[in-house]
Amino acid sequence: MNSNYKSAILGIGMAVPSKVLTNFDLEKMVETSDKWITERTGIKERRILEDGENISKYAIKASIEALERANVSPKELNLIICATVTPDYLIPSLSILVQEGIEAVNAGAFDLFATCSGFIYGLAVADQFIRNNPDWKILVIGAEALSRKTNWKDRTICVLLGDGAGAVVVGKSPQSENRGILDFFLGADGSRWPLLTLKGGGSCYAPFDKRLPEEEYYIKMQGREVFKVATRMMEKIALELLKRNGLTNEDIKLLVPHQANLRIIEYLRERLNLPKNKVYVNIHKYGNTSAASIPLALYEAEKEGKLKEGDLVLLVAFGGGFTFGGALLRW
Ligand code: ACO
Repeated sequence: MNSNYKSAILGIGMAVPSKVLTNFDLEKMVETSDKWITERTGIKERRILEDGENISKYAIKASIEALERANVSPKELNLIICATVTPDYLIPSLSILVQEGIEAVNAGAFDLFATCSGFIYGLAVADQFIRNNPDWKILVIGAEALSRKTNWKDRTICVLLGDGAGAVVVGKSPQSENRGILDFFLGADGSRWPLLTLKGGGSCYAPFDKRLPEEEYYIKMQGREVFKVATRMMEKIALELLKRNGLTNEDIKLLVPHQANLRIIEYLRERLNLPKNKVYVNIHKYGNTSAASIPLALYEAEKEGKLKEGDLVLLVAFGGGFTFGGALLRW
C-alpha cells in the first residue's frame, strides 16, 4: 500500500450482555440437543440482550474501554464507524447513539452494513482516512443484537446467533513502532444472496406487509450452502493476502477468523496448515455475533496473552450478501 502513514489499532474494548443462553436452554425451546449444537457448530452458549435492553448500551461500553486503553478522549475522535445489521433503530443510526453516549462532539458518524465482514470493512475505511489525515482518530465498532432478528422457532438458525459489541480506536501508527494495518482484502458476491436473508422491514416489504410471511422478518439461512461458500472464500482470502505480501503460513502468529462455526474455522486452519495454538477461537462462549465477532475475538486473544506487540495477525470474515473481508496487521 502506498502512503507515508500506516494506521494501527491503538486500543480495544468489548462488552456483552450478562444474560447467558446455553444449549440446554435451547433444548427446551426447539427440537435440538447440546450434543448436536456442540458437534456441528462448537457453540456451547451465547449472550443475549434482556428485554428492554439495547445494543447501543454495549457499543458505548466497548467504545469507552477502547478509548481509555488508547488514551484518546472522545473529543479527539474525528469519525465513528459502526458495523452492524441490527442497530437500535433505522433512524438514528447506531453510530449516532454512540456519538451521543460518549460525547464525541467533534466526530462524524455513520453505520456500515456489511454483515459479518462489517468490522473488517470498517477497519479498511478507517485506514484510508488515516492515510490521508494522519492526525485523525477513528472509532470502529462491531455491534450486533442478532437475538432480536432470530426466529426462536427455527432450530436451523436460533442455535447459532448471539449478541455483543467490540470497538477499536484507529490512528496513525507511531513511526518508531513496527505495527499497524498492512493490507486488506474486501470482496462481495451478490449472485447467491438468497442463501442468507432478512427481507422484512426493508423498503421492499415495509413492516407488517401482509404479502410477506412472518418468518421473513427474521434471519433465514440455507446453512449447508452458506458453509460451502464460506470455507472456499475464507481460504481464498487468507492465501491471497499472504501471497501478495510475500508471506507464508509460518509468518502468521495468530489467525483470528469470523466465529460462525468451529468446523469452518477448523477447515481453514487445516487448509492453511496452522497448528491449533495459532488460531483463536471463542465461538463456544458467544456463538456467531456477526460484525462483533472479530473484535470480541481480538480483545480476548490479547487479554489471554496470545497477541503481543509486533505479532503478525490475519483476520478473515464472510457474511450474508455475500460479503468477504480479510486484513493483515502487526499488532
Ligand atoms: N438441532 C438438531 N438438528 C438440526 C438442527 C438443530 N439446531 N439444525 C438442523 N438440524 C438437522 C437438519 O434438519 C438436518 O436433518 P436431516 O438430515 O434430517 O434433514 C440435519 O440436522 C443436518 O442439517 P445440515 O443443515 O446439513 O447440518 P450442517 O452440518 O450443515 O450444520 C449449520 C448446519 C450449523 C447451520 C452449518 O451448515 C453452518 O454452520 N453453516 C454456515 C452458517 C454460517 O456460518 N452463517 C454465517 C452467516 S450468519 C449471519 O450472517 C448472521
